[in-house]
Amino acid sequence: MFRMRGGLSRLSTCLCLLMLIHCWLQVDAAYTCSSTQFRCGNGRCITRRWICDGGDDCGDGTDELPATCATKSCRETEFNCGAPMNQCIPGAWHCDGKADCNNGADEKNCTAKQCRADEFRCTNGQCISKSFMCDNDNDCSDGSDEASCPKPTCSSGSFQCNNSVCVPALWRCDGDKDCADGSDEWPENCVGREVERKPKSCNIHEFQCANGECIHSSWRCDGGLDCSDHSDEVNCSRPTCSPDEFQCKDGPCVHASRQCDGKPDCRDLSDESGCYPENVCEGPTKFRCNNGECIIMARVCDKQKDCSDWSDESDVCGKNECLIGNGGCSHSCTDLKIGFNCSCPAGYGLKMDKKTCEDIDECAEANSCTQICINLPGSYKCDCEKGYEIDPATKACKAESGTVPTLYFTNRHDVRKLTLDRTEYVRVIPQLKNAVALDMDMPNKMIFWSDLSLKKIYSSKLDVAGNSSQHSVVIGSGTEAPEGIAVDWIHGNIYWTDSILKTISVATTDGSKRKTLITEGLVKPRSITVDPFNNFMYWTDWAEEAKIEKCGLNGVDRVALVTDNIVWPNGITLDMHQQRLYWVDSKLHTLSSIDVNGANRHILIYSEEKLSHPLSLTVFEEKVFWTDMGNSAIFSANRNSREKEITELATNLDQPEDIVLHHNLKQPVGTNWCRQTNSMNGGCEFLCLPAPQINQRTSPKYTCSCPDNMTLGPDMRKCVKGVPLVPTQAPSRPTTTAQPAPDTTTTTTTAAPTTTTTTTTAKKLTAPSSTQPTQEPAATALGNRMAAVPEDAPSSHPVALYIVVPLIVLCIVVFGAGLLWRHWRHKNTNTIHFDNPVYQKTTEDEVHICRNSSDGYVYPQRQMLSMEDMDIA
Ligand SMILES: *[C@@H]1O[C@H](CO)[C@@H](O)[C@H](O)[C@H]1NC(C)=O
Ligand SMILES: *[C@@H]1O[C@H](CO)[C@@H](O)[C@H](O)[C@H]1NC(C)=O
Ligand SMILES: *[C@@H]1O[C@H](CO)[C@@H](O)[C@H](O)[C@H]1NC(C)=O
Ligand SMILES: *[C@@H]1O[C@H](CO)[C@@H](O)[C@H](O)[C@H]1NC(C)=O
Ligand SMILES: *[C@@H]1O[C@H](CO)[C@@H](O)[C@H](O)[C@H]1NC(C)=O
Ligand SMILES: *[C@@H]1O[C@H](CO)[C@@H](O)[C@H](O)[C@H]1NC(C)=O
Repeated sequence: MFRMRGGLSRLSTCLCLLMLIHCWLQVDAAYTCSSTQFRCGNGRCITRRWICDGGDDCGDGTDELPATCATKSCRETEFNCGAPMNQCIPGAWHCDGKADCNNGADEKNCTAKQCRADEFRCTNGQCISKSFMCDNDNDCSDGSDEASCPKPTCSSGSFQCNNSVCVPALWRCDGDKDCADGSDEWPENCVGREVERKPKSCNIHEFQCANGECIHSSWRCDGGLDCSDHSDEVNCSRPTCSPDEFQCKDGPCVHASRQCDGKPDCRDLSDESGCYPENVCEGPTKFRCNNGECIIMARVCDKQKDCSDWSDESDVCGKNECLIGNGGCSHSCTDLKIGFNCSCPAGYGLKMDKKTCEDIDECAEANSCTQICINLPGSYKCDCEKGYEIDPATKACKAESGTVPTLYFTNRHDVRKLTLDRTEYVRVIPQLKNAVALDMDMPNKMIFWSDLSLKKIYSSKLDVAGNSSQHSVVIGSGTEAPEGIAVDWIHGNIYWTDSILKTISVATTDGSKRKTLITEGLVKPRSITVDPFNNFMYWTDWAEEAKIEKCGLNGVDRVALVTDNIVWPNGITLDMHQQRLYWVDSKLHTLSSIDVNGANRHILIYSEEKLSHPLSLTVFEEKVFWTDMGNSAIFSANRNSREKEITELATNLDQPEDIVLHHNLKQPVGTNWCRQTNSMNGGCEFLCLPAPQINQRTSPKYTCSCPDNMTLGPDMRKCVKGVPLVPTQAPSRPTTTAQPAPDTTTTTTTAAPTTTTTTTTAKKLTAPSSTQPTQEPAATALGNRMAAVPEDAPSSHPVALYIVVPLIVLCIVVFGAGLLWRHWRHKNTNTIHFDNPVYQKTTEDEVHICRNSSDGYVYPQRQMLSMEDMDIA
């Protein structure tokens, strides 16, 4: 992966020379397409899977002709959508409740789903828990579960709320409103039982909502509803701003000159929203004089002085510059009254010289594809990781087979599941006191949740989770507010945050061994997510100085990823394929994403209404799902397309908090290095924790850890009494800690991509100027990362060595590869498209350069993929 922009010009010169030699070497070689390939009308070979997929991959359209489509055949395991397109989709997508063929043929003539014995069949065919019948919520989307309802009778151990729902008798008069109408705490129902008010106190810098919640005191009367009972905005008088001031949407006044100055001054960024660039003096109807005046185009070259500097009547009036050498343009040249204009075909853009066209690298934009992006000359193509295929209808990657994707979420008193096709909506765990955090070990079919009232973390086998005698306590003491949990399904550990103790801890999933990993620099840690392939964890902290942090799963290599423009980050999740983090901010009402190194930050969705108080989110395929307490609902939206249509999946919920998507591809199998060695548990006496893979080859795979109050002995495996004198370090990581990750953090991929995408996806929050506030976090993260690196950085070596030596090596390698390639191409073309999109991309680009080099095409030699990327997941 070469992203060295600095040496790029020299690099491309070198590469171009080599390419020319290369072209000359193989002009005589005819292109032979392999059996898995299709030969286009123009001689190019493309993979057969791309025939008739709605995109012109040949460049001449021959892969999309009706005659070509007719020859397309599907594999035995596939379903054929039928004429005229003959699209192929995996067999498992037939009758899965979602139309995947463009003509919808895969969802025709499907038999209705059978409901289980404990399920109720809605009139429209959906299956819901019998217990959702007659609970005053429309759980069937046609409302048939509430159509004819007798008043239920509650068992002896239950209390009947005024709205006739039954709750455990123990919950009556315990100080919490457990009935939706609060009737379990009404004084008339509590005669003889003294209502125990729990005066939970908030910190001095906090405001206590009428319902007991604590929020930052600066959020009182700021115009945003932060308490779930809205009590933070009661009895507020908004300040009146003077005439030369701008009133932020959340109340405060800032000086008028600060509005639309490109820097956010209001806490809610409202001073920079709705700013549009001034009317630019350009285009076909306006002309900009050299001195900056603006006149209408008709006045140019009319032999009248209209610009005071005469620049509208220069001697080039009437001269057609395009006649001489196409004006220097590589493609179209348009003659203007004064001067001329170069332009490019679709998919190409002008280079800095404003004359030469170059391929637009669509893949540089993070939202182009959900998984793999292949940049082609003039266009791009999305591909999918193993286990996924392109859905013809949505053009996104969809799981090829496996379990039906299902959402699991906590809803205060229960854990529910909702299949994405919405055919099944049931209660998985009933009668919980205050379930908040949730996660799963999908390969082992285990579910984990935390109960904030009982201050415990529980687990259960998924299939018997409804039976409370099957629940086991994972963490039963020593935790006050386990608000976020994350399961490392590969190494069998559970991580959790505690916002009262201000810690992050780890334990084995049975709870037998535990350790407090992080105790410093945490104020209000909430949501946490883990990546057990690269062995990192990521969490949000909604302190006064809110942030998102990253750290190895063994507690080392901690770095802050996001520290700017973040206020109340409640939920975070990781897309392992893209290596991007997604989070929701309940104060800014945004859903954002950033890559795991802190670059390429984007706001995907801004909605005061649908993100009024989001708590948690998850991603799968092209979708993002989130819980919103303000709406008591679950929403989903497409995370790639420009139009963010927001769908409501479940409503009338009690208090939806955490959400998890269950699918076998969500938690792929990986290697547990702690079990790979001959000695059990990696030879560790206590915990064996995965170490962050900063460099896949040289980073150690794990380190041993000891219980709190104990420390690693000299062998770095056994534990000895006492508090560590020096911070514990890995047994074999003396040098790797010093290396910055060999990743994109060290180069600046931030500027260009960030600007383009933020303006398109988040109009409300972006400023017009090109210096975006959203770029700062990347820089900060970089700064932090650098700060974390000890001083023995490469600066002690001559810089030239780092540029010249790799260049020479590279040139030799490329040249050698070129010779080999020619030989190889004759012998073996089978693997080109299927297994290695990288190779296919580079070869196609080369072919193109060779053919058109006279036209002045220059393609940046950038690989979006490397073999390392392909190995992950
Ligand atoms: C679907 O059923 C209709 C009527 O039962 C029948 O005419 C049609 O051929 C069937 N289509 C398929 C694809 O089986
Ligand atoms: C309790 O329920 C009854 C009947 O459902 C209703 O008429 C009454 O208004 C409810 N009481 C309160 C205080 O909401
Ligand atoms: C709002 O003001 C009223 C009247 O002054 C008072 O009774 C009430 O307690 C106040 N509410 C809050 C949340 O301060
Ligand atoms: C010149 O080309 C640029 C880019 O294609 C375009 O934005 C601009 O409007 C053109 N100017 C005129 C006068 O056509
Ligand atoms: C719940 O599990 C216990 C222990 O295995 C078993 O005895 C009991 O029958 C189960 N209850 C139900 C309703 O399945
Ligand atoms: C660690 O030591 C402290 C004080 O010495 C003690 O309060 C605490 O309980 C100990 N923790 C464990 C896990 O032994």
